[in-house]
Amino acid sequence: MILVTGGAGFIGSNFVIDWLANSDEPVLNLDKLTYAGNLQNLNALKGDDRHVFVQGDIGNADLVANLLHQHQPRSVLNFAAESHVDRSILGPDEFIQTNIVGTFRLLEAVRQYWGGLAGNAHDKFRFLHVSTDEVYGSLSSSEPAFTETHRYEPNSPYSASKAASDHLVRAYHHTYGLPVLTTNCSNNYGPFHFPEKLIPLMIVNALAGKPLPVYGDGMQVRDWLYVTDHCSAIRRVLEAGVLGEVYNVGGWNEKPNIDIVNTVCGLLNELRPRTDGKSYLEQMTYVADRPGHDRRYAIDAGKIERELGWKPAETFETGIRKTVLWYLDNPGWVADVQSGAYSTWVEKNYMARA
Ligand code: NAD
Ligand code: DAU
Repeated sequence: MILVTGGAGFIGSNFVIDWLANSDEPVLNLDKLTYAGNLQNLNALKGDDRHVFVQGDIGNADLVANLLHQHQPRSVLNFAAESHVDRSILGPDEFIQTNIVGTFRLLEAVRQYWGGLAGNAHDKFRFLHVSTDEVYGSLSSSEPAFTETHRYEPNSPYSASKAASDHLVRAYHHTYGLPVLTTNCSNNYGPFHFPEKLIPLMIVNALAGKPLPVYGDGMQVRDWLYVTDHCSAIRRVLEAGVLGEVYNVGGWNEKPNIDIVNTVCGLLNELRPRTDGKSYLEQMTYVADRPGHDRRYAIDAGKIERELGWKPAETFETGIRKTVLWYLDNPGWVADVQSGAYSTWVEKNYMARA
């Protein structure tokens, strides 16, 4: 089996569902169930004994050691993280704990476990670390997209904590020979995306008749990839990636934020028109910018395409339509994730920007 950490979050849950749709190899899913972890994301696997869920922290060394010993996974894939830049600005502590200390404790437990394996189990073992393009910093409009050799220049507490985790993973390979693989992916979107992030926030706010808050001038550029394409890239890297190597993952889909808001509103105008006949764009409002806001991210995905033959299956047009339809079809999921602490976060993040 494989051990997936953070498998109740946005990308992790899509990965687990996708993995079991493509293979019969069981998944042990270790997730702390923070505000971002949601077992509802895994409803499709209810009653499926190929999926074993354990609530727990990657930083709990004893727990991780016991799980490794008991289940003997052939690979560990680390998705678990605090992932939201704005939260890292307003409260970086958890980011340091999970993304840096947690990854370190996980690596230590895995190193011990791997050291005790013999023969094929030892040789075939992999630790795959899921990371982000944000570690490379910000690009000007004329600079080429990030390659795997781009310098690390993280600008937010989130990206700095992910950069630190990447360095630890690299060091465990270089120093101890741990068989690691790292992926650095661009912005994902799709089902189960928590509505604190741009695309799901715009969809759910539009439908609720709330403002659509665009930070600064809205001309920051992100490179968007449909989440199941990220999942297929991770499967491919796990299968064929060269030990110690880094693979950038992206969809060649650079878009300014304002275009994203326009596209989401256009789709909603078509699929669920406002009762007053006006465009959802009327709800758009410019608000104070994110401190230290990175201007542009862009991924050069040439290496994974050339060396591993991976390509995304979705275009932005097909992916964003599927995404909007998913949110229209799942109002219960949206209502559930918006209950509890969600409203406190919205108040904390947006009140000061008004
Ligand atoms: P998410 O916030 O939706 O999910 C994170 C999951 O990790 C949650 O289920 C949470 O409960 C769990 N978790 C948090 N702390 C934990 C801990 N200490 N121990 C165990 N579980 C813990 O994040 P996501 O968007 O799904 O991102 C997953 C990974 O992919 C992260 O490492 C992130 O840095 C990376 N990534 C995300 C994107 C993106 O666009 N969302 C792009 C590139 C890379
Ligand atoms: O690039 C990969 C990264 O993408 C991942 O590592 C992160 O985990 C993920 O959260 C995402 O980070 P971003 O900061 O790019 O995503 P977010 O959805 O928070 O913001 C996307 C852009 O939209 C960014 O320029 C900020 C802007 N924005 C965001 C929100 C929430 C707004 O204009 N208004 C908003 O209300």
